[in-house]
Amino acid sequence: MNSPRVADLSPDAPFTDFDGLADDLSEAGYVVVPDFLGRQTGETLVEEITTLWNDGSYRAAAVGRGDERQIRAEIRSDHVRWLDPTALTTPQAGYWEQMERLRVALNRTLYLGLFDLEAHLACFPAGAHYKAHLDRHRESEVRQLSAIVYLNPEWSTEDGGELRLYTDRESGTGGPFLDVIPGFGKLVLFLSGDFWHEVLPARRERHSITGWFRRRVE
Ligand code: OGA
Ligand code: MN
Repeated sequence: MNSPRVADLSPDAPFTDFDGLADDLSEAGYVVVPDFLGRQTGETLVEEITTLWNDGSYRAAAVGRGDERQIRAEIRSDHVRWLDPTALTTPQAGYWEQMERLRVALNRTLYLGLFDLEAHLACFPAGAHYKAHLDRHRESEVRQLSAIVYLNPEWSTEDGGELRLYTDRESGTGGPFLDVIPGFGKLVLFLSGDFWHEVLPARRERHSITGWFRRRVE
């Protein structure tokens, strides 16, 4: 049998049940949505990031902030390209608008005070990984919610690259975890300061957009 096409894997319409999502998020602190983007935005993004990646327009991701920023491939070996919200391409605008709907809905129902979004394209080449970490920088509480959207058509369990999300806030990396397969159009959301997570080594190129909803800090 032929491999299924993206068209067979994902519904046409973007996800709309934001209230249901907000309920799940407030209960558990994290949520996984299998088909968040909708097919058209997803497919055009896959096309675009394939070109950008092949053109070499991503950079090795750094760890730490300010003077402590450095490339540490033993900690993380992904490559990223930041999105510029003032110069989005059409597919990127499709992503951004859907994230904006999510942001507004969450503010309406959960009062998280989410103010804006920062996001980058990410690629983990075969063999790349990201060790267990929290997304909130020690010196800054600005990141409230981490939001990762995966852009890998036809990803299977043999391809590895799962997001391992440690689901018990108290026990961290010593506790239970959920392995999320980074399949096409899927969204994972979790509270940035609370949930330890890591990316297991992928056996082939693994693409995503990682975003953080931020709150305003005085
Ligand atoms: C990150 C991260 C997880 C993933 O970029 O901080 O944890 O599944 N990414 O790509
Ligand atoms: Mn992270």
